[in-house]
Amino acid sequence: MSKLHILEDNEVKKLRPDVAYKVEDLSSHPDQYMKILFKELDSRLRDKTFVPPPQRVFDVVDIRSAIRYLQEAKHIGKVVLKYPEPNAQLHNSHISLTFKLLSASATYVITGGCGGIGFEVGKWMLKNGAGHVVLVGRRSPECRVMREIEQIRSSSETEGVLSISQGDIGDMSYCEKLFSWIETKWPTMPVRGVIHAAGVLADGVIPNQTPESFLTTQHPKVRGGWNLHQLTKDINLEHFVVFSSVVALLGSPGQSNHALANAFLDGLVNYRQSLGLPATTINWGQWGETGVAAGKVVNMVKPFSTKAGLKALEYSLKSGVSHVSPVDIDIDALGNSMLAPWLTTYLENIMNSGRNTRRNSNVSKWESDSDSLWYKLKVCGDSNEGRYGVAKPYVARIIEGLLKLDDELLPNESLQDLGLDSLMMIEMKNAL
Ligand SMILES: NC(=O)c1ccc[n+]([C@@H]2O[C@H](COP(=O)([O-])OP(=O)(O)OC[C@H]3O[C@@H](n4cnc5c(N)ncnc54)[C@H](OP(=O)(O)O)[C@@H]3O)[C@@H](O)[C@H]2O)c1
Repeated sequence: MSKLHILEDNEVKKLRPDVAYKVEDLSSHPDQYMKILFKELDSRLRDKTFVPPPQRVFDVVDIRSAIRYLQEAKHIGKVVLKYPEPNAQLHNSHISLTFKLLSASATYVITGGCGGIGFEVGKWMLKNGAGHVVLVGRRSPECRVMREIEQIRSSSETEGVLSISQGDIGDMSYCEKLFSWIETKWPTMPVRGVIHAAGVLADGVIPNQTPESFLTTQHPKVRGGWNLHQLTKDINLEHFVVFSSVVALLGSPGQSNHALANAFLDGLVNYRQSLGLPATTINWGQWGETGVAAGKVVNMVKPFSTKAGLKALEYSLKSGVSHVSPVDIDIDALGNSMLAPWLTTYLENIMNSGRNTRRNSNVSKWESDSDSLWYKLKVCGDSNEGRYGVAKPYVARIIEGLLKLDDELLPNESLQDLGLDSLMMIEMKNAL
């Protein structure tokens, strides 16, 4: 299917005299026609009058194998990547680990891995196929965690290996040692994932905050996050996940430094995404059974279980969404809070920004311009030259918008060379 390179009858005859060739512009047909067409296609596929080309299906998380397969030119037909359900909900039980999220021949680094949430994540990773998990923390693990680690190591249920590395993730020289230790000691298990869960709280209302209390919170998250980015940006990572907080989205009294540190991590994820690197930030709400907030009453949010938290992590990794905030909001408390009016505007802006993609905003601009266009055309009367002069810059603006050109279109530039594809041509036609 294409809008480009449409052949003339004589060209087709020369190429393939045995083929019947007819040009169909699907966009010019009513919706009804498409329904009939797809129904017909469906029934022909079912009764096997039409046989689709062979397909080799790969999970999208296993894209490397798909590309390797393509490179080896082994395929006949189509190589298909299967994506997770786009509208999958957290509570839908069908989101199970059918996708190979974690590899048995890879290492996963969890900073803050001996802390409440980090340790649960480490166990979850091992249970779900991770070959090697490294838990990073400054101190040696507390006795309860150490006992569990020993149990895991001696259990025959887990095939993966659990290591501990003691050090400060905010210190670049430690980070370099950590990655070179993994490379030397585990050469066949390269690092494929990083979970940055290290964090320290130093709460206090703003007059009580000090440069030190800000540094305490920024050190693991900002320096640590940046060190991890620097050391992994050139390796083939599948997951780079930072544990941020809903506090970075909604604020929280006494936690300005925590909000700042987490907002930095959210920004780091945007930055990595702009470089085409994997990155996910999870703005966690309150974990109720483990971690620093367990058993606490937290303003405007309700605690969730560890099971729900891990499910949310699984969902975040599978969905490929870069910003996720699993949080059980206490709607009543939120509605009565000072935040309510601000939050309404904030959420409205998010919804509207989703609608106003750049193309849409261009389209609405063209639409608003169209009245003046018709007026100008009318003024030109029957003069073709005049009408051409009016229409030309208008069409050029549409194309500039579609191709996102910064400069004006030159008179003899080839649109194909500029990247105009068949879908854009349909969009241009609709705009015209
Ligand atoms: N708990 C929640 O409900 C919640 C909500 C939102 C966000 N989060 C985020 O989720 C992450 C984990 O939280 P948690 O509740 O599990 O906290 P936690 O139990 O205190 O664990 C944090 C871990 O980070 C380690 N750490 C701190 N600074 C470090 C550094 N410079 N280098 C290496 N390790 C360092 C600490 O170990 P050492 O002291 O031994 O270094 C600690 O084990 C944090 O980033 C937190 O901000 C948690």
